[in-house]
Amino acid sequence: MRARIHPLDRPLQSPTALRVPGDKSISHRSLMMAALAKGESRIAGLAGGADVRSTARVLAQLGIPLLRGDGTPWMPGPRSELSGDFGDEPTFMGPQRPQGSAKLPARDPDMGPDDAIVFGQGLDGLRAPTGPLDCGNSGTTLRLMMGILAGAGIEATLIGDQSLSRRPMERVAKPLRLLGAEIECSDKGRPPVRVHGGKKLRGAAVKSELSSAQVKSAVLLAGLFAEGQTSFEEPMRSRDHTERFFSLCGIPLERAGHANVLTGPVQPQAFALDVPGDLSSAAFLLAAVLASPQGSKLELAHVGVNPTRAGFLDALAAFGAKSKLSIGGGSTGPLGAGGQPLPGAGAFAGGGEPVGALSIEAQPLRGAELDEALVLRAIDEVPMLSVLGALAEGRTTIRGASELRVKESDRLAQMAMGLRAMGATVEELPDGLIIDGVGPGKKLHGATIDSAHDHRIALAFSIAALAADSPTTISGAEWADVSYPGFFSLLGRLGARVELIP
Ligand code: S3P
Repeated sequence: MRARIHPLDRPLQSPTALRVPGDKSISHRSLMMAALAKGESRIAGLAGGADVRSTARVLAQLGIPLLRGDGTPWMPGPRSELSGDFGDEPTFMGPQRPQGSAKLPARDPDMGPDDAIVFGQGLDGLRAPTGPLDCGNSGTTLRLMMGILAGAGIEATLIGDQSLSRRPMERVAKPLRLLGAEIECSDKGRPPVRVHGGKKLRGAAVKSELSSAQVKSAVLLAGLFAEGQTSFEEPMRSRDHTERFFSLCGIPLERAGHANVLTGPVQPQAFALDVPGDLSSAAFLLAAVLASPQGSKLELAHVGVNPTRAGFLDALAAFGAKSKLSIGGGSTGPLGAGGQPLPGAGAFAGGGEPVGALSIEAQPLRGAELDEALVLRAIDEVPMLSVLGALAEGRTTIRGASELRVKESDRLAQMAMGLRAMGATVEELPDGLIIDGVGPGKKLHGATIDSAHDHRIALAFSIAALAADSPTTISGAEWADVSYPGFFSLLGRLGARVELIP
């Protein structure tokens, strides 16, 4: 499917503050932690994209009863607005509620149909699946599930789509083997990944050469099941959603120097959570304003601004852009028996994650130096930041981003190729990009861009298209649904002209 996006000739605006989809990293973890907890967890504001549905489907295959917020069985999300590859999955019905469980209210005012109610079966409650576990396009699903399956001693094979089947998995298998797991990756350390069942894990000290939240999370999740102490140390601190979840679920996790230390086995508690909006999705809207004519402005409500991954906001400042952040949020806590929040727990809130409102107006940008430490905190936003570099006055340098070569696509190569096609001067480095931007008042050129099966590439070039001198066509545009279903309709509602071509 193609999206043809026309240059924006009037300001981009919304009369009301917008909510972006729920945070994808937090959504995956919330479903997984709820599955491992004992009892009923309620999750509002879950990300609706294809990736999080992959996690829900895998957990259902492992016997976890999972309902939508309105009490009906979980089904796939709405069909892609592009009626492309996504939304064509067979109708997925989660297992029935366990017998004897408390009756659900006819309608829970705190929850919408896209939210989730998960009946956690406890650490020993996962069932062996009858077939391979298909993680779709989702690296987070596959890698974190490796830790859970290894910990639970469940025999299973994890598979993924074409893009996921090219991504490295030894980085997770290796540390899990230190805990006693038996795991085989396929050719060149890629999926399918086979986790052998029946292995009892014992805690171990893992010192990772890579700063990766997925590797860290897989080890810490396995550590929940392992006998004794598990520690994980990484060179620089990656996003800490899993650590925050542990505290939400009552799991003691200590910080010793640069390491997180946990003593297992330890049973997580059920919880209630309102997932904050995804800053990685918000980044596209904030950048859309910066790519749009003077007078453009947007306000985004309830966005997660966890400092370990809010590098995008610092990058905006480095580009000389002023944005406004007003922090607001709440507390949250474990649920009591029967699924009611414990007194004082606050039913639905950010799960120990800082949440805020963000607003921005169109303004000129100057080139920026984005280094490794910043890139780690904005790893998924680099495609969008590269587009901003192409619009800025002067040179933008992005370094320390070699991990982007093994994401859903080789994002450095895709951005270099696409931005060159749009008229920017780009040098590709092994670990980054040097971009000479066109500067204020000048336009990129309309071009034909392929998403390369990568949602962030499709989304980043949709924004670049707004600042071009002629329409830009994005092929494989349906991949945007992996993290941002409804994105093109939203762009249209904000004032852009978008044609969807089957
Ligand atoms: C994620 C961690 C990051 C990020 C990915 C989501 C997570 O990957 O790029 O989109 O939820 O833990 P790495 O751990 O590979 O850096």
